Amino acid sequence: MRNVKISAVGAWVPPRVLTNDDLARMVDTSNEWILERTGIEQRHIADPEVATSDLALEAAKAALEQRGTTAEDVDAIILCTVTPDHMFPSTACIVQHKLGAKRAWGFDLIAACSSFVYGLTTAAHLVGGGTHKKVLVIGADTMSRIIDYQDRATCVLFGDGAGAFLIEPGGDDEQGFIGFRNEIDGSGAEVLRMPAGGSRMPPSHETVDKRLHFVHQEGQAVFKFAVKRMGEISAQLLAQHDLKPEQVKLMIPHQANRRIILACADRLGMPHENVLINIERFGNTTAGTIPIATNEAYATGRLHKGDIVLFAAVGAGFTVGANLWRWMF
Ligand code: ACO
Repeated sequence: MRNVKISAVGAWVPPRVLTNDDLARMVDTSNEWILERTGIEQRHIADPEVATSDLALEAAKAALEQRGTTAEDVDAIILCTVTPDHMFPSTACIVQHKLGAKRAWGFDLIAACSSFVYGLTTAAHLVGGGTHKKVLVIGADTMSRIIDYQDRATCVLFGDGAGAFLIEPGGDDEQGFIGFRNEIDGSGAEVLRMPAGGSRMPPSHETVDKRLHFVHQEGQAVFKFAVKRMGEISAQLLAQHDLKPEQVKLMIPHQANRRIILACADRLGMPHENVLINIERFGNTTAGTIPIATNEAYATGRLHKGDIVLFAAVGAGFTVGANLWRWMF
């Protein structure tokens, strides 16, 4: 496998902000409860006419602009999302067209909160295998479209947003991609899902009346699994590459809950200052969290050439993933 690197990062969130106090006027909750139980202070929400492809497009443009390259150079687009514009065609097709990525093929990747990590692994292999030179991995979700704003247990958690990485071949001394571990455990499929709208339960008046087109979850079951497996898979990946937690400059985990992240960091033996947390401003943007957080880390000078970065996530499915990269710009 040839060397592979992350060559650019971009992100975009819609400007409208929904605060905890705003939510407290909609459901029986409070700023104090949300902040204490999740670490979230606010989240960004897309206007009604904005869909996932629009968020994805802005993030992709930002990454291409940072790299100083054009959409016509892109070979493939991996669009990570659980909130596609439509069931089909794929949102990757819509973004390819809007972006003008005339030579690119691509597809949507659905692995919920682990989607972006899976997308990174996939892109690393497309580029590492020698067949692709520029792969855009975009994590984009408009979670507000599938959240029940009458359900206080879920509506406080999520926000909308997108981020993108450009993946390219690395030079001889540029081994950006170090390794990965990804898993699924489908025994957890029932505890976090959108019950209706697919072939198992097609849309009907009844599914709408029963509010089955929204996210349904057993929060505590998800919480326990996430704490356990996000830490374990990260530790396994580090051990696989003879790395100790203190050699990781920055852990950029999926942002689902501040308590999940800190518990994982503690299990892993990772100092809290080496873990990026920005959930307070964005909530859980599902596939968007990791590239949005990485964009922020780079923009604020927390990532430098040569730094080892650990990306880790757990999501619906259950899906679990971790990727190790060396930052190359
Ligand atoms: N405001 C006030 N009270 C609330 C709220 C709210 N927004 N939501 C729930 N409660 C109440 C419950 O009704 C319950 O009341 P009761 O004791 O009278 O029955 C009480 O708070 C405690 O509820 P729990 O569910 O036990 O609270 P918990 O501490 O587990 O926190 C939470 C709930 C925040 C959802 C947590 O379980 C969690 O974060 N789980 C992970 C879910 C997640 O992140 N999913 C995202 C996708 S998957 C992923 O990204 C890993």
